[in-house]
Amino acid sequence: MSRQNAAVILAAGLGKRMQSALPKVLHPCAELPLVCHVIRLAQACNCAPIVVVVSPATKEPVQEAVRQHVGDAAIRFAVQAEPRGTGDAARAGIGALDGFAGDVLLLYGDVPLLQAQTIERLRQARQQACVALLSAKVAQPSGYGRVVRRADGQVTAIVEEKDCNDAQRQLQEINAGVYVCEAGVLRTALAGLTPQNAQNEYYLTDIVAHAAGHGGAQAVVVHDVDEIRGVNNRLDLYEATRALQDRLLRQHALAGVAVQDVAGSFVGLDVVLEPDVTLGIGVQLYGKTVVRRGAVIEGPTVVRDSEIGPRCVVHAFCHLEQARMDEDASIGPYARLRPQAHLKSHARVGNFVELKKATLGEGAKANHLAYIGDAEVGAHSNIGAGTIFCNYDGFNKHRTQLGSRVFVGSNSTLVAPLQLRDGAFVAAGSTLTRDVPGDALALGRAQQVIKEGYANKLRDRFAAQQQANKKKVL
Ligand code: UD1
Ligand code: CA
Repeated sequence: MSRQNAAVILAAGLGKRMQSALPKVLHPCAELPLVCHVIRLAQACNCAPIVVVVSPATKEPVQEAVRQHVGDAAIRFAVQAEPRGTGDAARAGIGALDGFAGDVLLLYGDVPLLQAQTIERLRQARQQACVALLSAKVAQPSGYGRVVRRADGQVTAIVEEKDCNDAQRQLQEINAGVYVCEAGVLRTALAGLTPQNAQNEYYLTDIVAHAAGHGGAQAVVVHDVDEIRGVNNRLDLYEATRALQDRLLRQHALAGVAVQDVAGSFVGLDVVLEPDVTLGIGVQLYGKTVVRRGAVIEGPTVVRDSEIGPRCVVHAFCHLEQARMDEDASIGPYARLRPQAHLKSHARVGNFVELKKATLGEGAKANHLAYIGDAEVGAHSNIGAGTIFCNYDGFNKHRTQLGSRVFVGSNSTLVAPLQLRDGAFVAAGSTLTRDVPGDALALGRAQQVIKEGYANKLRDRFAAQQQANKKKVL
């Protein structure tokens, strides 16, 4: 049987530099709170249980965010009473792993870009020692703990910058703060920590010197320094979000998506893009959005929790939320699909058209300037420009149902509840309050009157009035 793996995620720090009422680890990076990125990583690495170390003040909001974003199976919470350092936080975490024998993966709740394959390399290295830690070689090591090695390359300790001597301060290999440690060794090392250092804190890093003397410590150098980016302020968060977007969009491009502009696009972590999708400049896809094969989305456009079917076209300046487009449908430019808008195959919505809780049947069209709310529109029906579905009387919402092949002339007002049956024809400018039978013509407007030659009489009268007014002023 393979070794058991637990994870401890340190997330009790205060995060004052975010200058926010929201705890640091709950700030979203590409829609997902920072700590949830780290929990997902631990899950992807098959860690169980996963312990999240929180502070008394952040316990409830963190628990709530975890429930919402990652589910809480196998996730435990440990409270660090006071922020007395990373070693103290790890102690609180291991306290929630009573009786656990195996490897413990230690992670920080504010390092969102770490990848599972890097953790796998750490685990491999752990086979040759009792602790493996992640390091990076950087030009600007200031602020980080330094990895100290013997002449033969063996790792002997990590020294925090504030405790470094001059020679140590010059070292360019830094500690990323990620460790895999054998549980027994970790317990003993943590129990032996003391706060005798420049910051009077319990340093988790001291477990490395302990391990070096009890079975050895191995350092694994990370390939991509983006992976170990920690978030301490909002600039870090911005940079981490951009780095994550860049990674995601490159992955989508490799999987067959045509991405026109990485920098100006946003694609959420859980968005599904099938091959042969084209994303224009400024396309923003959020939440559980799914875009099927061959669909084209022009930018700028915002799509949230929606499904865009195969070969659909979304022209520029559209806004979709909880909407669904079946195959070969198209919308925009300037269309708005609100929750429960549903376009069936080959349906077409043009500019300045809004749909809410409304279905457009196969091949149905609403090409310009319309509001379609609480409605069902049958196949191949046509909604003329300026048509308004009056679904609300100030108290209640009512439904409008159109059968197939219904033609609604321009500037019509359909007052719900209302039914227009198959093949009904509504004359332009009608206000309808009564149901229309199949294939009937409905006219709901004042009769037109013609008076032959009367226009000239009117013009003479108006000219005379104009002259009279001018004389009065003089
Ligand atoms: C730590 C490492 C340093 C490493 C750096 C990498 C130590 C002593 N130093 O320093 O070697 O180069 O990370 O980023 O570990 N936390 C708690 N409780 C506490 C203190 C911290 O839960 O009492 C959590 C924080 O929420 C954070 C993480 O531990 O997620 C790291 O804490 P931080 O103060 O940022 O450590 P650094 O000083 O950056
Ligand atoms: Ca830090």
